[in-house]
Amino acid sequence: MEQHTRMLEAEPVYRANRLTIERFSLERARVALRAAAPRTITIPVVVHVLHSTAAENISEEQVRSQIAVLNQDFQRKNPDRSQTPAPFRGAIGNPKVRFQLAVRDPNGSPTNGITRTPTTKPQFDSGANDIKFTAQGGRDAWPRDRYLNLWVGGTVVDPVVGALLGYAQFPGGPAATDGVVIAATGFGTLGTAQAPFNKGRTATHEIGHWLNLLHIWGDDNGGCQGSDNVADTPNQAGPNSGCPSFPHRTCQNGPHGDMFMNYMDYTDDACMFMFTKGQVARMRTTLQGPRATILASDALAPAARVARLALPTRAPKASLATLVGAEAGSQVTTVFDGAGWVQVGAR
Ligand code: ARG
Ligand code: ZN
Ligand code: CA
Repeated sequence: MEQHTRMLEAEPVYRANRLTIERFSLERARVALRAAAPRTITIPVVVHVLHSTAAENISEEQVRSQIAVLNQDFQRKNPDRSQTPAPFRGAIGNPKVRFQLAVRDPNGSPTNGITRTPTTKPQFDSGANDIKFTAQGGRDAWPRDRYLNLWVGGTVVDPVVGALLGYAQFPGGPAATDGVVIAATGFGTLGTAQAPFNKGRTATHEIGHWLNLLHIWGDDNGGCQGSDNVADTPNQAGPNSGCPSFPHRTCQNGPHGDMFMNYMDYTDDACMFMFTKGQVARMRTTLQGPRATILASDALAPAARVARLALPTRAPKASLATLVGAEAGSQVTTVFDGAGWVQVGAR
């Protein structure tokens, strides 16, 4: 959020984009809310692992554990949603979004969707966005119109608020810094992930931002004026942490109080397990608007493999021809027919 605020202040283009997107979102989300059940959308993901120690070079298994969590949370398949208090159960939404590691890299070559980059930096700065630039000890983004970039680094700090579990860029920002950053201590469910942030919910929260969700309390730090521009999340004073007990009331939002089990609050991983229908409408709207290009991505189509290129056993003459010009430069004199050089013209 701090990074977002700094960008709003420093970059008029970003501020204008945010306004346009917010208007679009308010209009369209209302329609999306009433529309028929949408199809599942699959988002290609690249995970950039930055490592200054062996431990930070997290395993592919840990990466896959994170993708698995996302595929539960964004398809209303997370078993812990059954803990949602009865009065909020009817509000639970299903984003119908799948995540899959890319199989084709930006050059069209095969990939497992994970890049690994050694670095001298054990700590990255959300203000500088250094993790997103190879020249600054990070790793350059893959094209944001085709990939969701997820960067994982040892420690992530904000110049103002200090240590972060992660941060995201909203739609409407610069391409080079688009995506989500997560500290290794809050990524996936095993390896370097540490309780109480070892259930993969930091990525769920940050990708919520990447799909244009705001914090559930409206970022007014305790006031009751701010809003997340979502109607079915109760007005709430500020962020909750840990694992509150239900109901927890602020801003006269009784009888049910804060929806602190929403992914867009700051509670522990084990205590957040829902998006609302209104939040889902906003995310789906984002995928029809500012992030629509990702739907046409080729990143999940298997890359052509050289080994599978069909080569004829005996090349037909001149089809594989490599032409060699005469010394004079004008006339073709010899041609490679697949086996040897053949004279084709007068010398
Ligand atoms: N940007 C937030 C932070 O760094 C992420 C909070 C995620 N919460 C969680 N339970 N994983 O504090
Ligand atoms: Zn947040
Ligand atoms: Ca609300």
